Amino acid sequence: NLPERVTMIEVGPRDGLQNEHHFIDTEIKKAFIQKLADAGMKEMEITSFVSPKWVPQMQDAAEIVQSRPSGVRNIVLVPNRKGIEQALETSCKSVAVFVGVSNSFNKKNINRSTLESMAELQPMIAELKGKNFFVRACISTSFYCPYEGKVSEADVLGLCQEFADVGVDELSVADTIGMATPFESFSLFSKLKERLPDMMIAAHFHDTRRLAMANIYAALQAGIDRFDASAGGLGGCPFAPGATGNVATEDVVYMLERMGIETCIDLEKIVEAIDVIAPALSRKIETGYYQLAKNG
Ligand code: HMG
Ligand code: MG
Repeated sequence: NLPERVTMIEVGPRDGLQNEHHFIDTEIKKAFIQKLADAGMKEMEITSFVSPKWVPQMQDAAEIVQSRPSGVRNIVLVPNRKGIEQALETSCKSVAVFVGVSNSFNKKNINRSTLESMAELQPMIAELKGKNFFVRACISTSFYCPYEGKVSEADVLGLCQEFADVGVDELSVADTIGMATPFESFSLFSKLKERLPDMMIAAHFHDTRRLAMANIYAALQAGIDRFDASAGGLGGCPFAPGATGNVATEDVVYMLERMGIETCIDLEKIVEAIDVIAPALSRKIETGYYQLAKNG
């Protein structure tokens, strides 16, 4: 018994672009975000308040937030207190914090141990909840770490529980380097559903080894009905060596709709969104649905 409908969370403007080395014009990013909203995306990670020295691509975050589309849960990623303070200076009402289960990864990504990150974020999350923010917690390296290898399920469940205890609204559980198998996907998501039955849980798969679609199917069977994806399959964390793009929005939507699972996303408009961003990218878009739409 698979879900009848699924919510797609578009992460293209954030995860999709953060790894692009040359700066993409802010107007192009805005047009990309607007097209994704036009395609029916109701939840999107649009940018991140991170150090411009670490991720120069996101240096226009304040401007992106300023002109975000209406009628969409526009989420801004924040790694630390400074990022949260920046978010508080805007009128945005949704943030995503991010922490790696693996300590080595967290150090490379945020320059803090996992414990230090949690100690910094926990009181901030409580404050954000007090201000009626929607808070998402992205759990990186939930399956494998590029530095430490296999990550234990118990550690993932423990970190998710800590976030639940401080009142986050949603967990986005990530396979950062695209190494999980469908068995692992089913196992972890089943346990998460059992342990946190009332929590909104999204699955965030990178497609490094082309297992993301199989992992999504396994997660659906575990009762997951929220999926992060990136138009054109863009994406990758600059501090996770070997990681490639997120699973492609258009391919996930195509699969789900063919299976009779409703997404409320207009595929042709996703293609139009990709057309907006594609000329600004250093890589070619080679996802299945987009190729077919362009070349027949
Ligand atoms: P740090 O060097 O330890 O920072 O970096 P610091 O606290 O020592 O401060 C140093 C300087 O950075 C100071 O400026 C701060 O003001 C500034 P200075 O005095 O030198 O001029 N600073 C900031 N500036 C802007 N925004 C901020 C901020 N914080 C400090 N928030 C830091 C620590 C967290 C800043 C850095 O490591 C960083 O920015 N990391 C972000 C890395 C990143 O964006 N990774 C990708 C997103 S996560 C991801 O993709 C995974 C995900 O998709 C799930 C998955 O797939 O796994 C979510
Ligand atoms: Mg990611």
